[in-house]
Amino acid sequence: MPIVEISDRTLDEAARLLRAGQLVAFPTETVYGLGADATNGAAVAAIYAAKGRPQFNPLIAHVADTEAAKRHVELTGKAAKLAKAFWPGPLTLVLPRCADCGISELVTAGLDTVAIRVPRHPIARDLLRRANVPVAAPSANLSGHVSPTTAMHVAHDLRAKVAMILDGGPTEHGLESTVVEVEGRSVMILRPGALTAEQIEAVAGAPVGRAYDAGERPRSPGQLVSHYAPHAAVRLDATAVAAGEALLAFGPTPPVAVGPMFNLSRRGDLVEAAANLFAGLRELDKPGVTCIAVSHIPNAGLGEAINDRLKRAASGR
Ligand code: TXA
Ligand code: MG
Repeated sequence: MPIVEISDRTLDEAARLLRAGQLVAFPTETVYGLGADATNGAAVAAIYAAKGRPQFNPLIAHVADTEAAKRHVELTGKAAKLAKAFWPGPLTLVLPRCADCGISELVTAGLDTVAIRVPRHPIARDLLRRANVPVAAPSANLSGHVSPTTAMHVAHDLRAKVAMILDGGPTEHGLESTVVEVEGRSVMILRPGALTAEQIEAVAGAPVGRAYDAGERPRSPGQLVSHYAPHAAVRLDATAVAAGEALLAFGPTPPVAVGPMFNLSRRGDLVEAAANLFAGLRELDKPGVTCIAVSHIPNAGLGEAINDRLKRAASGR
């Protein structure tokens, strides 16, 4: 059983495994990550193999602090301002590689930019400090599956493929980090996530662009339309539930469900709903459920990222 409790000994062992080129799954404040030494091409290749992920999807490099980030990317201007405001936290910055960047081209899929972030979760930070290498980590699920928010979710998808899964309990946000590209004065959200556009705009001091709307060619290559699909079909903005359907509800007065039901937030709180989203999709995605009907979710604040994930889930695989 690769799931282990957190202790000084298991954290040291996890850091040693990472430095030895092995895969270690660990909790972050967003979702669980499937980590490998980002400077070791063979280790990074093992991530793609374990996930069954298309090669053209570049990965996020995780580092312990801003100083460590500066060893790998050029962090200046508006990007530095955003890093100061939101690191450690659920912000990923896409930035130019610097000289002696050291990060494997398999992480960046050959791009001349690196997606980098400093996670806030104490276990992730402790592990990154001990490992003392940048850690490439996509969400720790099989490609196309729902992102994992507990160690059990990780084990379900990847048990036989990882050296260790560090159990940090359920993750706080339950949604991936927001991916932001800064080019000169322009700030563009490539993937909506746990940090809202409003929060980023407040620090950037100007409106941010969005490069993820349906129909547009994705700038963030990982934004494949079907990235978050469960096995069952997904139907959005449901006001009633049909036979054979499960209900993913939101708010105090959901439609009457005959089959399985999961309420993302009974009190209609979008933060709570985001944290429950992937766990809810997993729980309802059971044999016998042909379709998951989803209640309307307002598109304000975190609702934007929740609806982005749900639209992808609804578009099927
Ligand atoms: O919350 C998260 O971000 C989680 C946890 C584990 O940290 N990680 C995660 O990684 O979601 P991943 O690999 O599943 O998503 C990486 C995203 C993708 O949308 C990818 O296309 C984008 O970042 N990305 C990575 N490198 C990029 C680059 N150089 N340019 C543009 N987009 C990039
Ligand atoms: Mg993912």
